[in-house]
Amino acid sequence: MDGEHFAPLLLDFEKGGIGLTLPLDSFQIGESSVPSRGEILKVNRIYACHKYFGRKPWHPISEKIRAYSSEGDTVFDPFLGSGVTAMESINLRRNFLGVDLNPMSKFITENTIDTNYNESLFDTEVGKLTERMESVANELYLSDTPCSQCDDFMVLCHVNNGPIFEPPFDCKFYCPSCGRNSRKAALERKANTLDDKKMNKDYKISKWVPETDFPEDFLKDRFSYKGITKVKQMYTPRNLYFLSELLHEIRHGQYVNQRFFLLAFSNTVLHASKLKSENVRPLNTNNYWVPDDRFEENPWMRFLERIKLVRKSKAELLIRNKKRKIGSATIQTTSSLKMELDDSSIDYIITDPPYGEAIQYYELSFIWNAWLDTEYQPDEEVIINSKQNKKVEDYIDFMKQSVEECARVLKVGGHYTLCFQNKDFKIWSDLLNLFKSNNFEFVEVDIIDLKGTPFNVNWKSFSPSADIYITFKLGTYKSTNELMNDVDNLVQQCLVEGQDDSIPDLYNRVIEKLIHEVYLCKNPVDVSKLSINSLLTTMEEHHAGN
Ligand SMILES: C[S@@+](CC[C@H](N)C(=O)[O-])C[C@H]1O[C@@H](n2cnc3c(N)ncnc32)[C@H](O)[C@@H]1O
Ligand SMILES: [Zn+2]
Repeated sequence: MDGEHFAPLLLDFEKGGIGLTLPLDSFQIGESSVPSRGEILKVNRIYACHKYFGRKPWHPISEKIRAYSSEGDTVFDPFLGSGVTAMESINLRRNFLGVDLNPMSKFITENTIDTNYNESLFDTEVGKLTERMESVANELYLSDTPCSQCDDFMVLCHVNNGPIFEPPFDCKFYCPSCGRNSRKAALERKANTLDDKKMNKDYKISKWVPETDFPEDFLKDRFSYKGITKVKQMYTPRNLYFLSELLHEIRHGQYVNQRFFLLAFSNTVLHASKLKSENVRPLNTNNYWVPDDRFEENPWMRFLERIKLVRKSKAELLIRNKKRKIGSATIQTTSSLKMELDDSSIDYIITDPPYGEAIQYYELSFIWNAWLDTEYQPDEEVIINSKQNKKVEDYIDFMKQSVEECARVLKVGGHYTLCFQNKDFKIWSDLLNLFKSNNFEFVEVDIIDLKGTPFNVNWKSFSPSADIYITFKLGTYKSTNELMNDVDNLVQQCLVEGQDDSIPDLYNRVIEKLIHEVYLCKNPVDVSKLSINSLLTTMEEHHAGN
């Protein structure tokens, strides 16, 4: 391979400290490894065609794939998610294999990497879909409030709908005819009587809607007291009616682009639900509840916006791909804890498993899967979740199975890059010990903090924002060193070495050292005293003493 050298921050084993060492052979890379900001943003658009939880930025992943595998190699991701590793692997002409328990993963990944796209046909079919659905939408969401500029009637963007509101309800309009009241500058008004009437009409639903019940133990707890126990109850009658008509048309209207329309559709259903209010975006675990100040969003408008995202994504993909040869990708919906893959059949593993309890993939994807009729059982989901009765020990046990399985399918000498993050130092040390005991040698750690230090946070409840990439090599691990084995000392050293006056900075340094310590010590490192709180105390004492 010709090309430049890549010099990440490497741990210097010999000195037992952290420092820059000379690049290793394996860091030789092909094309330039540092994309410009412009390129990062452009490629981001490809991934923006569907939301997923915990998606990783593509460029560090691309860099790792380039550094640790070669063209034609088989790259494997056992916790695929939305397919960043798939896209970046095939873009670098590797063959890719990805597995995820969640059917959404295959759905999003395959549609994201799909280059079988023709823009003019897409536009023609969007036109056809619009012709058939816009009149339905207008019947539901067109108001009798005229635009002050062009006198055409305006369309509802959203209307307040939660139980805390009383009529006349606040709403937002935009004018589809003239540029003045665009969606972004939508007018704030009070809904009039016609809007009220439409809002409260009894809509007869004749097309398919999901009849799925929310699982008793997790989701029902969150909304059953609001009368919501089924997915379809997550919608106002008007929105449910419209979504059922739209889905029916997409499925039965003979569209070549059906899969891309479904992508836009499923990317609409959270926003069109009762999870949404002015102040709550229905996008993460903490916001998984039905707010009293919710509003009813116009799903057709949201869908058209999602269609635009797909269009941009495909345009960008075709530019990036430029009809050159790319690698192949195989995606499977199954658990990766035990697989039918042959021993030593994989050249490189790169993955981002669930980090513990931070993101509940099964629960968060539930509404998507219900609408796509692809529900699944989370029994083998690697997660900490009290409702699924999975504790920290169960999580570590799942990860143990996963690391063992990966050690089996990876070729000896092959690399494994793990992207991980967790506030709990015990989880860190347990995880590292799993790699150690499965013959993985430590190669490097890269801490990439793209989000920067949060401003004005309560450090006790801070959540680490950096992505930490640790690379191992499958071989015969031997502990080489007896290091300090004393976490107090470790934290003190981190304090002295950096001018950290924030917990995130100190945390990053401690994690980096800890990875090193846990990995190279023969004896287990006792991390029981280490926590964010203890870091905070030590840092305060340190500053007070200065
Ligand atoms: C952190 S996400 C991956 C996110 C991904 N890196 C991305 O950029 O979108 C972890 C994934 O692991 C999946 N998962 C959890 N347990 C699994 C198992 N036993 N087998 C396969 N996949 C699993 C979840 O469904 C989730 O999609
Ligand atoms: Zn107008």
